[in-house]
Amino acid sequence: MKTFDVYPIFDIEIVKAQGTTLWDKNGKKYLDMYGGHAVISIGHSHPYYIKTIDEQLSQIGFYSNSVKISQQDIVAEKLGKLSGCEDYQLFFCNSGAEANENAFKVASFHNGRKKIIAFSQAFHGRTSLAVAATDNIKIVAPVNENNNVVFMAFNDISRFEQEMSEDVCAVIVEGVQGVGGVNIPTKSFLQSIQQKCKEYHAVFIMDEIQSGYGRTGRFFAFQYADVQPDIITIAKGMGNGFPVAGVLIHPKIQPKKGMLGTTFGGNYLACASAKAVLEVIESENLMDNAYKQGEYIKQQLKGLSKIKEIRGLGLMIGIELFEDASLVRDILLHQYSIFTGSASNKNTIRILPSLAVTKAEIDVLLNALKETLK
Ligand SMILES: Cc1ncc(COP(=O)(O)O)c(C=O)c1O
Repeated sequence: MKTFDVYPIFDIEIVKAQGTTLWDKNGKKYLDMYGGHAVISIGHSHPYYIKTIDEQLSQIGFYSNSVKISQQDIVAEKLGKLSGCEDYQLFFCNSGAEANENAFKVASFHNGRKKIIAFSQAFHGRTSLAVAATDNIKIVAPVNENNNVVFMAFNDISRFEQEMSEDVCAVIVEGVQGVGGVNIPTKSFLQSIQQKCKEYHAVFIMDEIQSGYGRTGRFFAFQYADVQPDIITIAKGMGNGFPVAGVLIHPKIQPKKGMLGTTFGGNYLACASAKAVLEVIESENLMDNAYKQGEYIKQQLKGLSKIKEIRGLGLMIGIELFEDASLVRDILLHQYSIFTGSASNKNTIRILPSLAVTKAEIDVLLNALKETLK
Protein backbone atom coordinates (compact mmCIF):
# COMPACT_ATOMS: atom_id res chain seq x y z
CA MET A 1 0.00 0.00 0.00
CA LYS A 2 1.07 3.60 -0.66
CA THR A 3 0.09 6.72 1.21
CA PHE A 4 -2.57 8.95 -0.39
CA ASP A 5 -0.42 11.58 -2.04
CA VAL A 6 -1.98 14.89 -0.99
CA TYR A 7 0.91 16.87 0.47
CA PRO A 8 3.46 18.86 -1.56
CA ILE A 9 6.55 17.92 0.48
CA PHE A 10 10.23 18.82 0.80
CA ASP A 11 12.55 15.91 0.14
CA ILE A 12 13.86 16.02 3.72
CA GLU A 13 13.39 13.33 6.35
CA ILE A 14 13.50 14.62 9.91
CA VAL A 15 14.52 11.93 12.39
CA LYS A 16 15.34 13.86 15.56
CA ALA A 17 14.41 17.14 17.25
CA GLN A 18 15.38 19.08 20.34
CA GLY A 19 14.15 22.54 21.32
CA THR A 20 14.17 24.54 18.06
CA THR A 21 16.63 22.25 16.27
CA LEU A 22 15.80 19.45 13.83
CA TRP A 23 18.12 16.80 12.34
CA ASP A 24 17.54 14.95 9.09
CA LYS A 25 18.49 11.31 8.43
CA ASN A 26 21.91 12.41 7.15
CA GLY A 27 22.67 14.26 10.36
CA LYS A 28 22.13 17.70 8.81
CA LYS A 29 20.85 20.31 11.29
CA TYR A 30 17.90 22.67 10.68
CA LEU A 31 16.43 25.57 12.61
CA ASP A 32 12.67 25.19 13.10
CA MET A 33 11.09 28.62 12.68
CA TYR A 34 7.82 26.97 11.58
CA GLY A 35 7.18 24.91 14.73
CA GLY A 36 5.72 22.10 12.63
CA HIS A 37 2.89 24.51 11.67
CA ALA A 38 2.56 26.36 15.00
CA VAL A 39 2.21 23.08 16.87
CA ILE A 40 5.45 23.05 18.84
CA SER A 41 4.74 25.26 21.83
CA ILE A 42 7.28 24.30 24.51
CA GLY A 43 10.05 23.06 22.17
CA HIS A 44 10.68 19.66 20.61
CA SER A 45 11.35 16.72 22.96
CA HIS A 46 11.16 18.78 26.15
CA PRO A 47 12.47 16.49 28.93
CA TYR A 48 9.55 17.17 31.30
CA TYR A 49 7.08 16.51 28.50
CA ILE A 50 8.77 13.19 27.67
CA LYS A 51 8.88 12.18 31.34
CA THR A 52 5.19 13.01 31.91
CA ILE A 53 3.99 11.06 28.86
CA ASP A 54 6.37 8.21 29.61
CA GLU A 55 5.14 7.86 33.20
CA GLN A 56 1.52 7.93 32.08
CA LEU A 57 2.13 5.33 29.37
CA SER A 58 3.66 2.95 31.85
CA GLN A 59 0.42 3.17 33.92
CA ILE A 60 -2.33 3.19 31.29
CA GLY A 61 -2.43 4.62 27.75
CA PHE A 62 -6.09 4.38 26.87
CA TYR A 63 -9.54 3.69 28.11
CA SER A 64 -12.80 5.09 26.79
CA ASN A 65 -14.83 8.04 28.05
CA SER A 66 -17.23 5.59 29.70
CA VAL A 67 -15.12 5.77 32.88
CA LYS A 68 -13.91 8.61 35.10
CA ILE A 69 -10.60 10.01 33.77
CA SER A 70 -9.51 12.42 36.51
CA GLN A 71 -6.53 13.56 34.39
CA GLN A 72 -9.12 15.47 32.29
CA ASP A 73 -10.20 17.48 35.35
CA ILE A 74 -6.58 18.26 36.18
CA VAL A 75 -5.96 19.62 32.66
CA ALA A 76 -9.24 21.58 32.71
CA GLU A 77 -8.34 23.19 36.03
CA LYS A 78 -4.81 24.11 34.96
CA LEU A 79 -6.00 25.41 31.61
CA GLY A 80 -8.69 27.50 33.29
CA LYS A 81 -6.18 29.07 35.68
CA LEU A 82 -3.46 29.78 33.14
CA SER A 83 -5.82 31.14 30.48
CA GLY A 84 -7.99 33.18 32.84
CA CYS A 85 -11.07 31.29 31.60
CA GLU A 86 -11.75 29.41 34.84
CA ASP A 87 -15.52 29.30 34.58
CA TYR A 88 -15.60 27.73 31.09
CA GLN A 89 -16.25 24.00 30.54
CA LEU A 90 -13.80 21.93 28.49
CA PHE A 91 -14.73 19.31 25.89
CA PHE A 92 -11.73 17.28 24.69
CA CYS A 93 -11.29 16.21 21.08
CA ASN A 94 -8.37 15.42 18.77
CA SER A 95 -7.82 18.08 16.11
CA GLY A 96 -8.58 21.67 15.24
CA ALA A 97 -11.22 20.91 12.63
CA GLU A 98 -12.97 18.62 15.08
CA ALA A 99 -12.91 21.35 17.75
CA ASN A 100 -14.61 23.80 15.35
CA GLU A 101 -17.08 21.15 14.18
CA ASN A 102 -18.11 20.57 17.80
CA ALA A 103 -18.24 24.30 18.47
CA PHE A 104 -20.77 24.73 15.64
CA LYS A 105 -22.83 21.83 16.96
CA VAL A 106 -22.90 23.24 20.48
CA ALA A 107 -23.92 26.66 19.12
CA SER A 108 -26.68 25.19 17.00
CA PHE A 109 -27.98 22.95 19.79
CA HIS A 110 -27.95 26.01 22.04
CA ASN A 111 -30.03 28.42 19.95
CA GLY A 112 -31.65 26.04 17.45
CA ARG A 113 -30.38 28.03 14.45
CA LYS A 114 -28.29 27.20 11.36
CA LYS A 115 -26.70 30.28 9.84
CA ILE A 116 -22.96 30.77 10.38
CA ILE A 117 -21.03 33.98 9.67
CA ALA A 118 -17.34 33.53 8.79
CA PHE A 119 -14.82 35.97 7.29
CA SER A 120 -12.70 36.44 4.20
CA GLN A 121 -9.38 34.52 4.27
CA ALA A 122 -10.59 32.43 7.22
CA PHE A 123 -9.26 28.91 7.77
CA HIS A 124 -11.16 26.68 10.19
CA GLY A 125 -10.21 23.15 9.10
CA ARG A 126 -11.07 20.55 6.49
CA THR A 127 -14.05 18.63 7.86
CA SER A 128 -17.68 19.16 6.93
CA LEU A 129 -18.82 22.47 8.43
CA ALA A 130 -15.30 23.66 9.34
CA VAL A 131 -14.31 23.58 5.66
CA ALA A 132 -17.60 25.18 4.63
CA ALA A 133 -16.61 28.07 6.93
CA THR A 134 -13.12 28.22 5.36
CA ASP A 135 -12.63 30.81 2.64
CA ASN A 136 -10.94 28.59 0.05
CA ILE A 137 -13.18 26.99 -2.58
CA LYS A 138 -10.35 24.69 -3.71
CA ILE A 139 -10.66 22.58 -0.56
CA VAL A 140 -14.47 22.53 -0.36
CA ALA A 141 -15.86 19.34 -1.95
CA PRO A 142 -19.36 19.50 -3.46
CA VAL A 143 -20.69 17.55 -0.48
CA ASN A 144 -19.35 20.23 1.88
CA GLU A 145 -21.06 23.11 0.07
CA ASN A 146 -23.37 24.63 2.56
CA ASN A 147 -25.93 27.38 2.22
CA ASN A 148 -25.78 27.99 5.94
CA VAL A 149 -22.39 29.75 5.82
CA VAL A 150 -22.09 33.41 4.79
CA PHE A 151 -18.71 35.14 4.36
CA MET A 152 -18.17 38.79 5.28
CA ALA A 153 -15.08 40.95 4.73
CA PHE A 154 -12.63 40.57 7.63
CA ASN A 155 -12.47 43.67 9.85
CA ASP A 156 -15.40 45.33 8.02
CA ILE A 157 -17.61 46.30 10.96
CA SER A 158 -20.41 48.04 9.10
CA ARG A 159 -20.90 45.22 6.57
CA PHE A 160 -20.93 42.70 9.45
CA GLU A 161 -23.42 44.70 11.48
CA GLN A 162 -25.79 44.94 8.49
CA GLU A 163 -25.74 41.13 8.11
CA MET A 164 -26.42 40.30 11.75
CA SER A 165 -29.97 39.19 12.39
CA GLU A 166 -32.13 36.90 14.50
CA ASP A 167 -31.41 33.87 12.31
CA VAL A 168 -27.63 33.88 12.89
CA CYS A 169 -26.55 30.83 14.88
CA ALA A 170 -22.86 31.69 15.31
CA VAL A 171 -20.07 34.00 14.23
CA ILE A 172 -16.62 32.41 13.97
CA VAL A 173 -13.36 34.34 13.78
CA GLU A 174 -9.69 33.47 14.32
CA GLY A 175 -7.82 35.17 17.19
CA VAL A 176 -5.25 36.04 14.52
CA GLN A 177 -5.80 34.67 11.01
CA GLY A 178 -2.99 32.17 10.40
CA VAL A 179 -3.28 30.41 7.05
CA GLY A 180 -4.71 33.66 5.60
CA GLY A 181 -1.34 35.34 6.21
CA VAL A 182 -1.30 36.58 9.83
CA ASN A 183 -4.12 39.14 9.80
CA ILE A 184 -5.07 40.64 13.15
CA PRO A 185 -8.71 41.43 13.88
CA THR A 186 -9.11 44.97 15.20
CA LYS A 187 -10.28 45.44 18.76
CA SER A 188 -13.39 47.27 17.58
CA PHE A 189 -14.22 44.47 15.10
CA LEU A 190 -14.11 41.82 17.85
CA GLN A 191 -16.07 44.05 20.20
CA SER A 192 -18.71 44.57 17.54
CA ILE A 193 -18.98 40.78 17.03
CA GLN A 194 -19.38 40.32 20.77
CA GLN A 195 -22.01 43.02 21.06
CA LYS A 196 -24.05 41.89 18.04
CA CYS A 197 -23.93 38.25 19.16
CA LYS A 198 -25.32 39.33 22.54
CA GLU A 199 -28.02 41.45 20.95
CA TYR A 200 -29.22 38.67 18.62
CA HIS A 201 -28.51 35.69 20.95
CA ALA A 202 -25.99 34.31 18.47
CA VAL A 203 -22.91 32.40 19.65
CA PHE A 204 -19.51 34.11 19.41
CA ILE A 205 -16.88 31.47 18.53
CA MET A 206 -13.19 32.36 18.71
CA ASP A 207 -10.93 29.98 16.81
CA GLU A 208 -7.68 30.10 18.84
CA ILE A 209 -6.38 26.89 17.29
CA GLN A 210 -3.28 28.59 15.91
CA SER A 211 -3.20 31.88 17.83
CA GLY A 212 -3.90 30.43 21.30
CA TYR A 213 -1.79 28.75 23.93
CA GLY A 214 0.49 31.72 24.57
CA ARG A 215 1.71 32.11 20.99
CA THR A 216 0.81 35.80 20.84
CA GLY A 217 2.20 36.64 24.29
CA ARG A 218 -1.22 36.36 25.96
CA PHE A 219 -2.82 32.97 26.51
CA PHE A 220 -5.46 33.84 23.91
CA ALA A 221 -5.08 36.46 21.19
CA PHE A 222 -8.61 37.77 21.81
CA GLN A 223 -7.44 38.87 25.28
CA TYR A 224 -5.80 41.86 23.56
CA ALA A 225 -9.30 43.00 22.59
CA ASP A 226 -11.01 42.66 25.99
CA VAL A 227 -13.78 40.38 24.74
CA GLN A 228 -15.25 37.22 26.21
CA PRO A 229 -16.29 34.69 23.55
CA ASP A 230 -19.05 32.15 24.16
CA ILE A 231 -16.92 29.34 22.73
CA ILE A 232 -13.12 29.10 22.24
CA THR A 233 -11.50 26.35 20.18
CA ILE A 234 -7.95 25.15 20.84
CA ALA A 235 -5.61 22.57 19.30
CA LYS A 236 -2.09 23.00 17.86
CA GLY A 237 0.05 24.15 20.83
CA MET A 238 -2.04 22.23 23.35
CA GLY A 239 -0.13 18.96 23.08
CA ASN A 240 3.20 20.14 21.60
CA GLY A 241 2.67 17.57 18.84
CA PHE A 242 0.49 15.03 20.62
CA PRO A 243 -2.94 15.18 18.92
CA VAL A 244 -5.18 16.83 21.48
CA ALA A 245 -7.72 19.63 21.04
CA GLY A 246 -10.56 21.20 22.94
CA VAL A 247 -13.67 23.34 22.99
CA LEU A 248 -14.03 25.83 25.86
CA ILE A 249 -17.70 26.51 26.48
CA HIS A 250 -19.07 29.42 28.50
CA PRO A 251 -21.23 28.42 31.49
CA LYS A 252 -24.31 30.04 29.95
CA ILE A 253 -24.33 27.05 27.55
CA GLN A 254 -25.32 23.92 29.41
CA PRO A 255 -24.33 20.36 28.44
CA LYS A 256 -26.79 17.51 27.88
CA LYS A 257 -25.75 13.86 28.12
CA GLY A 258 -24.90 12.51 24.70
CA MET A 259 -24.81 15.96 23.05
CA LEU A 260 -21.17 15.45 21.98
CA GLY A 261 -18.86 12.47 22.11
CA THR A 262 -15.53 11.06 20.98
CA THR A 263 -13.57 7.82 21.30
CA PHE A 264 -10.06 9.20 21.61
CA GLY A 265 -10.67 12.72 22.97
CA GLY A 266 -9.21 13.32 26.43
CA ASN A 267 -7.38 10.00 26.64
CA TYR A 268 -4.67 9.52 29.27
CA LEU A 269 -1.76 10.28 26.96
CA ALA A 270 -3.46 13.36 25.50
CA CYS A 271 -4.04 14.63 29.04
CA ALA A 272 -0.44 13.90 30.08
CA SER A 273 0.88 15.89 27.12
CA ALA A 274 -1.58 18.76 27.71
CA LYS A 275 -0.70 18.90 31.41
CA ALA A 276 3.04 18.96 30.73
CA VAL A 277 2.62 21.74 28.15
CA LEU A 278 0.65 23.94 30.56
CA GLU A 279 3.16 23.38 33.36
CA VAL A 280 6.14 24.22 31.15
CA ILE A 281 4.45 27.33 29.67
CA GLU A 282 3.95 28.56 33.22
CA SER A 283 7.24 27.52 34.83
CA GLU A 284 9.41 28.79 31.96
CA ASN A 285 7.44 32.02 31.42
CA LEU A 286 6.98 31.14 27.77
CA MET A 287 4.22 33.68 27.12
CA ASP A 288 6.57 36.50 28.14
CA ASN A 289 9.31 35.01 25.97
CA ALA A 290 6.93 34.76 22.99
CA TYR A 291 6.00 38.42 23.34
CA LYS A 292 9.59 39.59 23.80
CA GLN A 293 11.06 37.59 20.92
CA GLY A 294 8.19 38.55 18.63
CA GLU A 295 8.73 42.26 19.32
CA TYR A 296 12.46 41.79 18.66
CA ILE A 297 11.81 40.18 15.24
CA LYS A 298 9.41 42.94 14.20
CA GLN A 299 11.76 45.68 15.35
CA GLN A 300 14.79 44.13 13.60
CA LEU A 301 12.98 43.77 10.28
CA LYS A 302 11.53 47.27 10.24
CA GLY A 303 12.59 49.39 7.30
CA LEU A 304 13.93 46.58 5.06
CA SER A 305 13.10 47.75 1.54
CA LYS A 306 12.00 44.33 0.20
CA ILE A 307 9.41 43.95 2.97
CA LYS A 308 5.98 45.42 2.30
CA GLU A 309 4.53 44.77 5.75
CA ILE A 310 5.25 42.88 8.97
CA ARG A 311 2.15 41.76 10.85
CA GLY A 312 1.90 39.78 14.02
CA LEU A 313 1.56 39.38 17.73
CA GLY A 314 4.20 37.55 19.76
CA LEU A 315 5.54 34.56 17.83
CA MET A 316 2.86 34.57 15.17
CA ILE A 317 4.48 36.75 12.55
CA GLY A 318 3.72 37.34 8.87
CA ILE A 319 6.38 38.95 6.71
CA GLU A 320 4.76 40.16 3.50
CA LEU A 321 7.11 40.82 0.59
CA PHE A 322 6.30 42.82 -2.55
CA GLU A 323 6.57 39.59 -4.54
CA ASP A 324 6.00 35.82 -4.23
CA ALA A 325 7.86 34.66 -1.12
CA SER A 326 8.45 31.04 -2.19
CA LEU A 327 11.96 31.69 -3.58
CA VAL A 328 13.01 33.37 -0.33
CA ARG A 329 11.62 30.44 1.67
CA ASP A 330 13.48 27.99 -0.57
CA ILE A 331 16.77 29.86 -0.05
CA LEU A 332 16.20 29.96 3.71
CA LEU A 333 15.62 26.21 3.73
CA HIS A 334 18.23 24.98 1.26
CA GLN A 335 21.06 27.47 1.86
CA TYR A 336 20.54 28.38 5.50
CA SER A 337 18.70 25.24 6.73
CA ILE A 338 15.83 27.20 8.23
CA PHE A 339 12.21 26.05 8.07
CA THR A 340 9.58 28.81 7.73
CA GLY A 341 5.87 28.69 6.87
CA SER A 342 3.90 29.82 3.84
CA ALA A 343 0.42 31.37 3.73
CA SER A 344 -2.52 31.41 1.32
CA ASN A 345 -1.32 34.92 0.52
CA LYS A 346 1.69 33.83 -1.59
CA ASN A 347 3.79 36.91 -0.72
CA THR A 348 3.75 36.16 3.01
CA ILE A 349 6.25 34.11 5.05
CA ARG A 350 4.99 32.87 8.40
CA ILE A 351 7.31 32.68 11.41
CA LEU A 352 5.88 30.32 14.06
CA PRO A 353 8.69 28.89 16.20
CA SER A 354 8.38 27.28 19.61
CA LEU A 355 7.54 29.76 22.37
CA ALA A 356 10.89 28.84 23.94
CA VAL A 357 12.95 30.09 20.97
CA THR A 358 16.03 32.06 22.02
CA LYS A 359 17.31 35.44 20.82
CA ALA A 360 20.43 33.70 19.46
CA GLU A 361 18.24 31.41 17.33
CA ILE A 362 16.22 34.35 16.11
CA ASP A 363 19.42 36.17 15.16
CA VAL A 364 20.32 33.24 12.90
CA LEU A 365 16.97 33.68 11.11
CA LEU A 366 17.30 37.47 10.93
CA ASN A 367 20.82 37.36 9.46
CA ALA A 368 19.80 34.76 6.88
CA LEU A 369 16.70 36.73 5.94
CA LYS A 370 18.61 40.01 5.64
CA GLU A 371 21.25 38.33 3.42
CA THR A 372 18.56 36.70 1.27
CA LEU A 373 16.61 39.93 0.84
CA LYS A 374 19.70 41.95 -0.16
C1 LIG B 1 -7.10 28.68 12.79
C2 LIG B 1 -7.18 27.22 12.47
N1 LIG B 1 -8.32 26.57 12.68
C3 LIG B 1 -8.43 25.25 12.43
C4 LIG B 1 -7.36 24.52 11.92
C5 LIG B 1 -7.52 23.05 11.65
O1 LIG B 1 -6.78 22.32 12.54
P1 LIG B 1 -6.46 20.75 12.24
O2 LIG B 1 -5.53 20.73 11.07
O3 LIG B 1 -5.85 20.27 13.52
O4 LIG B 1 -7.76 20.10 11.95
C6 LIG B 1 -6.16 25.18 11.68
C7 LIG B 1 -5.01 24.44 11.10
O5 LIG B 1 -4.10 25.00 10.52
C8 LIG B 1 -6.06 26.57 11.94
O6 LIG B 1 -4.92 27.24 11.71
